[in-house]
Amino acid sequence: MLLSCKIFSTFTLLFIFIHHSHSHSSTNSTETILYDVFPFVRVYTNGRIQRFFGQDFVPASTDPITKVQSKDVKISKQLNISARFYLPENANPGRKLPLLIYFHGGGFLTESAFSPTYHNFLNSLVAKSKVIAVSVNYRIAPEFPLPIAYQDSWLAVKWVFSHFKGNGNEMWLKKYADFKRVYLAGDSAGGNIAHHMGVRVGLENLDPGINIDGLFLNCPFFWGKRAIGNETGNPYGASLIERIWVHAYPKSSGLDDPLLNPGMDPGLRMLRCKRVLVYAAETDVLRFRDLYYKKELEKSGWNGVVNVVEVKGEGHVFNLNYPTNPKAIAMLKKIAVFLKY
Ligand SMILES: *[C@@H]1O[C@H](CO)[C@@H](O)[C@H](O)[C@H]1NC(C)=O
Ligand SMILES: *[C@@H]1O[C@H](CO)[C@@H](O)[C@H](O)[C@H]1NC(C)=O
Ligand SMILES: *[C@@H]1O[C@H](CO)[C@@H](O)[C@H](O)[C@H]1NC(C)=O
Repeated sequence: MLLSCKIFSTFTLLFIFIHHSHSHSSTNSTETILYDVFPFVRVYTNGRIQRFFGQDFVPASTDPITKVQSKDVKISKQLNISARFYLPENANPGRKLPLLIYFHGGGFLTESAFSPTYHNFLNSLVAKSKVIAVSVNYRIAPEFPLPIAYQDSWLAVKWVFSHFKGNGNEMWLKKYADFKRVYLAGDSAGGNIAHHMGVRVGLENLDPGINIDGLFLNCPFFWGKRAIGNETGNPYGASLIERIWVHAYPKSSGLDDPLLNPGMDPGLRMLRCKRVLVYAAETDVLRFRDLYYKKELEKSGWNGVVNVVEVKGEGHVFNLNYPTNPKAIAMLKKIAVFLKY
């Protein structure tokens, strides 16, 4: 009982599993499990891959409540990389909008830009903050192990940036996006990706006319070999994080890989923005890493300001799972302010 309480408080996504699991996800008792990262993914020796949440698809639309329009755009036909675009009501080409590039979570192992969770969140965020948003659908492990998600995401960032100064073919970007006000954002695994995209823009010194104004990370997925804070107090949560990383990136250098542990990343100071907002949730096993990320950024020589907001009594990405929670609504307002609306 104690263990299951711990599991639930750590990964509220499990509730989604309970509400959305159907008979088709039942286990075939004659099959043998190769490895298990429940509820993200379970892989069998016969090659079958089972996911327990994040696989529903909702079409792009004009949202009846917020009037936010969305559409899906292919970025690479060959690699099957795409993105869902969002435009707020009454967008006007005479007044360009901040551009938000968003990376969804799901432990690099599940979820997509097209699931109800992200579709609803981006609709609300775009309505509230009046930005044009690009929600990137990178490929996920184990079919496409890391670093593929980073490569896909980087290709998507470069493709978006190729529309600077009216170039490129995507009309919404050409008409509405203000490349002087670009934001990178993501939650959980997507927070990790968003951070690394910001570092890579700095390292590769992309067109200096493009200004990344800020980075927003919600419960970002960072970790390390040595436990910090009270991580040893949550052995189930810690083991889940470690299993996610090992199976999403079998060829990584381990738990201190610079892609996972920002304190090991010599490129950290190159992060190409001046403002970072991190949301941490009190009962999330990742919360100590949020504070550690701030500490490491500050001592790296990076020239900017990072703020960590800790939400009491809530778990990992609670705002996505419970969007009507008053704390989730307050958070949405705070993000909108961060995006300078
Ligand atoms: C279980 O899996 C095995 C191997 O894939 C298959 O041959 C068998 O038909 C499956 N049984 C059921 C009840 O799905
Ligand atoms: C391409 O990606 C979409 C969205 O993830 C997926 O539904 C589709 O099956 C993929 N197509 C191929 C050919 O892999
Ligand atoms: C560490 O976590 C354990 C288990 O959740 C808890 O009982 C303990 O009070 C925590 N200690 C601190 C200092 O937070």
